Amino acid sequence: MGAKKINLAVLLSGGGRTLQNIIDHIGEGKLDARIVVVISSRDDAYGLVRAKKAGIETHVVSHKLYKGDDTGKFSLEINKILSRYPIDLIVMAGFMHIFKADERYKGRVMNIHPALIPSFCGKGYYGHHVHQAVLDYGAKVSGVTVHFVDDVYDRGPIILQTAVAVKDDDTPDTLAARVFEQECNLYPKAIQLFAEGRLEIKGRRICIRSK
Ligand code: GAR
Repeated sequence: MGAKKINLAVLLSGGGRTLQNIIDHIGEGKLDARIVVVISSRDDAYGLVRAKKAGIETHVVSHKLYKGDDTGKFSLEINKILSRYPIDLIVMAGFMHIFKADERYKGRVMNIHPALIPSFCGKGYYGHHVHQAVLDYGAKVSGVTVHFVDDVYDRGPIILQTAVAVKDDDTPDTLAARVFEQECNLYPKAIQLFAEGRLEIKGRRICIRSK
């Protein structure tokens, strides 16, 4: 730690446990970052309450208002808000929609997915749907992936992954809980690597520079 602090924008759609984990890591001095803005795609997302409690500016870009619109107005609106802040990294934290970031954020948008990409990912695979699909398929291993975002769902270059063993008596809830425990370690780790300038994108491969 102790590097220059980077500015984060966090995009979310739900409960905001991922946001809370980042807030807590920053509070404990484990992350060289500050969150300058939180944008939610729902006005009733509990993540907004968490952000306000932490004194972070919030905005809502309600996805339901853009249903059926495929001209990119939803992303445009988010980009408009982002442009008002000095942002180093955009962090998707349970954000359940496609977001096309402006060109200037290329290589500066991260997402976390609660499975091992390229399995159990893509459109429709979010939250508990992912864990249900893993159990339905009978996979023995699931996990967590942190990746950079490009213009296709869950496809961008992978930064870090951790495996989580599936137990015979797992339910979607028990599996989700063990996976989330790993999410809480992996996302701050990836953000800190970015803050230290140690992530080098080489096509699809991300190389981690040593200190
Ligand atoms: C997290 O488990 C995150 O990995 C997942 O949604 C949850 C958000 O929880 N993201 C996806 O499924 C993205 N495809 P939260 O709203 O409590 O942070």
